[in-house]
Amino acid sequence: MLVTSKELLLDAQKKGYAVGAFNVENMEMVMAVLAAAEETGSPVIMQTTPGTLKYAGTDFYLANVRAAAERTKLPVVMHLDHGNSFALAMEAFRRGYTSIMIDGSKLPFEENIALTKSVTDACHPGNVPVEAELGRVGGKEDDLDNGDENPYTDPEEAKEFVKRADPDSLAVGVGTSHGVYKGVPKVNVDVLTQIRNVVDIPLVLHGTSGVPDDQVRDCVSRGICKVNYATDLRIAYTKGVRKYLEDHPDDFDPKKYGIPGMEEVKKYVIQKMEVVGSVNRG
Ligand code: 13P
Repeated sequence: MLVTSKELLLDAQKKGYAVGAFNVENMEMVMAVLAAAEETGSPVIMQTTPGTLKYAGTDFYLANVRAAAERTKLPVVMHLDHGNSFALAMEAFRRGYTSIMIDGSKLPFEENIALTKSVTDACHPGNVPVEAELGRVGGKEDDLDNGDENPYTDPEEAKEFVKRADPDSLAVGVGTSHGVYKGVPKVNVDVLTQIRNVVDIPLVLHGTSGVPDDQVRDCVSRGICKVNYATDLRIAYTKGVRKYLEDHPDDFDPKKYGIPGMEEVKKYVIQKMEVVGSVNRG
């Protein structure tokens, strides 16, 4: 069933686990993430960035995720990841996305509040929850390039931001980056704890591909309720497809090489569902 992220993340917050949020690029990735959720009994969030939406649009992705949700009794959320404008947030909201992120983190503080509040004001009457971001996640997420800039979220600012902009969850800058890490990342868990101490809505970890599992578990124990994985799913899917095509250079049926691609994604997602603690929480 397709549900909003609101109850899911509040349950995770109450019970001390997190829900995995997985970026899907095509029908095969949607099917693979669903298969992982079914195998582990996990609630699951599937999400698309503006860059992904340029490829096929909110209508195609929502139709795929809705079909997945109708095949399972587990809770499935369709989330807009890094919504970069009021217009895109509203498009996803009207289309039927069940969770919306508006990312004003590149804007000055007051402008981020104003943009986020405009989206929460529009979505809350329709009971659709909103994720906001304060502080920066480094690296490149589709068209959104934060380079190496990686300032941490200021806990006092976070407290004021949540009070005034009224988001349902908050993505925080604690040292992670989108994309492939050059070395081993080190999450600043002290900053995370300081934020948790003054902000009582579910917190979200971005840029988690490549973050060691023990650090992710530590973050979950300190209040992270949603953990985003994108890059590693793309790598997993492509690895499966590439290997198949290398081994079978004469094959041309997309169904044939889609299967090993899906298997790699499913394997990866199952392992991450175990790490974030969502197994049997659906
Ligand atoms: P990664 O690509 O580093 O996994 O980041 C995912 C993410 O945060 C999506 O918003």
